[in-house]
Amino acid sequence: MCGIVGVISKDKIIKKNVLLDLLKRLEYRGYDSAGIGFMSLGKLRVIKQKGSIDKLRSIVKNDCLGVTCIAHTRWATHGKPNLHNAHPFLSESKTWAIVHNGIIENYLDLKKELGNIKFSSSTDSEVIAQLLEKDSDKKDINKLIRVCNKLKGSFALLCMSVTNPNSLFIAKRKSPIYVMKGKDGIIVASDTICFEGFGKSYYSLEDDEFCEVGLEKIEFYNKKGKKIKKEEQKLESLNYSSSKNGFEHFMLKEIMEEGLVVSNIIKKYSSEPFLSFNECVVRKIKKVVLIGCGSAYHAGLIGARFFEKNTLIDARCYIASEFRYLNNKIDKDTLYIFISQSGETADTLASLELVKNSGGLCVGVTNVMHSTLAKMVDIVLDVCAGVEVAVASTKAYIAQVVVLYMLSKHIEGILKSKSINFLKDVEELRLTLQKNEINNVDKVASLISKKQSVIFIGRDLDYYSSLEASLKLKEVSYISSFACPSGELKHGYLAQVDNTTCVVVIATKIDLLDKNLNNASEVDARDGKIIICSPFKIEDKYTQIKVENITSDLICCLVARKLQYLAYQTSIIKGINPDKPRNLAKSVTVE
Ligand code: AGP
Ligand code: GLU
Repeated sequence: MCGIVGVISKDKIIKKNVLLDLLKRLEYRGYDSAGIGFMSLGKLRVIKQKGSIDKLRSIVKNDCLGVTCIAHTRWATHGKPNLHNAHPFLSESKTWAIVHNGIIENYLDLKKELGNIKFSSSTDSEVIAQLLEKDSDKKDINKLIRVCNKLKGSFALLCMSVTNPNSLFIAKRKSPIYVMKGKDGIIVASDTICFEGFGKSYYSLEDDEFCEVGLEKIEFYNKKGKKIKKEEQKLESLNYSSSKNGFEHFMLKEIMEEGLVVSNIIKKYSSEPFLSFNECVVRKIKKVVLIGCGSAYHAGLIGARFFEKNTLIDARCYIASEFRYLNNKIDKDTLYIFISQSGETADTLASLELVKNSGGLCVGVTNVMHSTLAKMVDIVLDVCAGVEVAVASTKAYIAQVVVLYMLSKHIEGILKSKSINFLKDVEELRLTLQKNEINNVDKVASLISKKQSVIFIGRDLDYYSSLEASLKLKEVSYISSFACPSGELKHGYLAQVDNTTCVVVIATKIDLLDKNLNNASEVDARDGKIIICSPFKIEDKYTQIKVENITSDLICCLVARKLQYLAYQTSIIKGINPDKPRNLAKSVTVE
């Protein structure tokens, strides 16, 4: 999930700042270590550091970079997150320097084949630098192609060779990489987020394509070493901003933007209301399958309930990393919906590939319209959340739920041959979100921060909300937490409850309230602390997180927002940076 950047420019001073500023834009991909590689006095050199890019910035001198340089921010897959395992890697005789995003699955076999070479790290990536050095081809680009043909797994690779100090060598399989020729030089990066402000178009490499780029040339090759032509693509503005707009953290800023995001969704979908889902497409749908990971999976679970309730079509949601083991028959009359904020999550893309290859109708629900997922699907739905920087998904989750709700209502309208004004439900949600009431949550956060474990429970949609709330809390506060359906509590989970436990009961449906309160008193009787998250007035003995009441099922978004804020506050009380929780990264581009 690492982020990689390369810059070719004659201006050294600009380059240090540009290089590290661009790398900073990729910090969401990992922050275990950071490093740069460059030419100095005819030699390839690296500077690397465990920890953040800011730490690295303080040790890189302005004048040390040559014409070309590469940089890396790491999320470790193989080898501890320490200095030795930080990228870039130099080959044994320092003829090549490489940075890598992905996993080389056959690295142990390749290492064996290399024999007596001294490796400086325990990563899978280093083997690439050593293989490049040992390759006997005369041309550097051919060496890269030959080496990559031996690799199994995934890679976006950026390499420098001592014999071609003004060029960068690029390779791609399964992990994204893009090239832009800007007015002051060349930028190569894992995400087009790095291009904003530098130019208007860029090249996107496909799997098993290669590129040699210098100040005056950009040449593309296929895996047979043949030159290929590629067209530039227009850079869509992402309105990238590294500013927190006065908020202390991106997570808080993004929670506070949720009203605005819903307003963007309303704007977008009132002018373009699901045109691809016309009568002919909709009437063929016999089943809906939703697929995603983490929060996107939870949005999918809620989406599946929307489809079942509103359209009466069978709907199921699967965790992407499990989907392919289930021997699912891919049906032509099933609608497959892939949900992913980034559109780059490896497991989601692997499931998408499987469905696509079998001819299923694939829809993408994503926040990144130039992502791999957006390009692969038959129909793409933009969730309009704007760039989400914090690792914990907040506004994008809400946006996914809203778009799935609207799609289910649109399909319901077609099936029942009547016009359904679902935008009024979304408008009611927007108005409530934009009041920005986050009352009473601070007190609860202080209480929760002292507990050893937190269990979230609920029934029906509230159970799915409890899964998301639990993920959010554990992600940014490190408190041990899980979710279970309220009714399951006494089938084992209750054994965990004592006075160190807090149980958050989510209860947004009046007809399920009594049952939920019964479950709360079962916890109360065992000394667990009860928090009720509900729009209804509950007896005073329980602490309550009051949720605003709205008429539609979109109340789950109001619950999500309150509990996102609860997680945020808990992390602050515990002195954790919620934007960059330990061991995690925003974009999970490895399986
Ligand atoms: C959410 O808070 C998490 N950081 C994580 O579960 C995330 O939702 C998951 O990795 C999926 O990412 P995607 O939406 O970019 O595919
Ligand atoms: N496998 C490489 C490492 O552990 C790259 C990891 C990644 O791209 O996430 O350093």
